[in-house]
Amino acid sequence: MNASLLFSGLGVATASYITLRFLRFIRLYTRPSSVKRYIYGENPWALVTGASDGIGLAIAQELATNGFNVILHGRNPEKLETTKTRLEGEHKNVQFKSVVLNASSATSQQIEQAVASLDGLNLTVLVNNVGGAAKVQPLEKNTADELDSVMNVNARFPAQLTKALLPKLARPQGPTLIMNIGSMADLGVPYATVYGASKAFNMSMSSCLAVEVKAEGRNIEVVGISVGRVTDVGHNKEDSSFFTPTARTMARACVDRVGCGRYIVVGYIGHAIQKFVVDLSPWIVFEMLVVPTMKDRKENEERKQV
Ligand SMILES: NC(=O)c1ccc[n+]([C@@H]2O[C@H](COP(=O)([O-])OP(=O)(O)OC[C@H]3O[C@@H](n4cnc5c(N)ncnc54)[C@H](OP(=O)(O)O)[C@@H]3O)[C@@H](O)[C@H]2O)c1
Repeated sequence: MNASLLFSGLGVATASYITLRFLRFIRLYTRPSSVKRYIYGENPWALVTGASDGIGLAIAQELATNGFNVILHGRNPEKLETTKTRLEGEHKNVQFKSVVLNASSATSQQIEQAVASLDGLNLTVLVNNVGGAAKVQPLEKNTADELDSVMNVNARFPAQLTKALLPKLARPQGPTLIMNIGSMADLGVPYATVYGASKAFNMSMSSCLAVEVKAEGRNIEVVGISVGRVTDVGHNKEDSSFFTPTARTMARACVDRVGCGRYIVVGYIGHAIQKFVVDLSPWIVFEMLVVPTMKDRKENEERKQV
């Protein structure tokens, strides 16, 4: 084989590979959601954790729009009640319930009790959304309690809740869905070390559980959704842009990815483009972009504390 034939063969193979990847990318972000497959039986319910604000509230709204009854989880009974009343006004054809549990301190017994209170409901969807960072600061400046709280809210609580709900979700009569909300902070973002690590736990839990339920012959879709910067959430009300969507746009993207066949997926296309560029670039480029932004946020945090 002469050299020019070899190079043109390599060229064709590379072009085909890039075209295929591009088409798969387009398909991933344009295919219709399969969320409606989880609407079956009498009164299907979805449980959304951290549903009194931000992305969780918006996911609850999206699921209600799709016809699910929604159980709203949060820690503040008054705020949850206000949210429930608001959603009842917006969505007249579905029902809402609320469950109060502090994700940073709930014991496994309290979680089991909350799960028992859902007995008899046709629960087909669990969205583990609750989470969040503590202060943006170097690891050693966190108190031990702050670190425990971040790990509890983002990792321990979703794991314990999912374990407690699995017997309800592993049902012979139809498929069920577990969606876990992660963060692109797990890529290596400074000043949020334990937050990033606990979101990585969340994504790893998604892929491991997805394979485990398959191995056990259970008809459960498990998907981990990786999320970049989002606005119109509890701690951020900046203007939205293509790369910083509102909570509602992010929630729609989460629901749209249902049935995509991946165990972990970047939920929103703007964030996927950012991740694609990061993956293509030398690591130093990511650091050059992310370090100044996070340093600014750390300094803002320090100013707030004095
Ligand atoms: N916003 C972003 O830029 C972004 C980026 C990547 C990933 N994420 C992930 O997206 C998810 C939602 O974030 P968000 O920005 O929408 O947050 P958010 O607006 O602060 O809302 C968080 C929700 O969780 C609840 N919550 C917080 N701590 C809790 C606790 N200890 N016990 C029970 N409920 C608690 C909050 O209740 P209260 O209303 O009582 O506070 C609220 O309902 C999180 O998993 C986060 O890690 C967000």
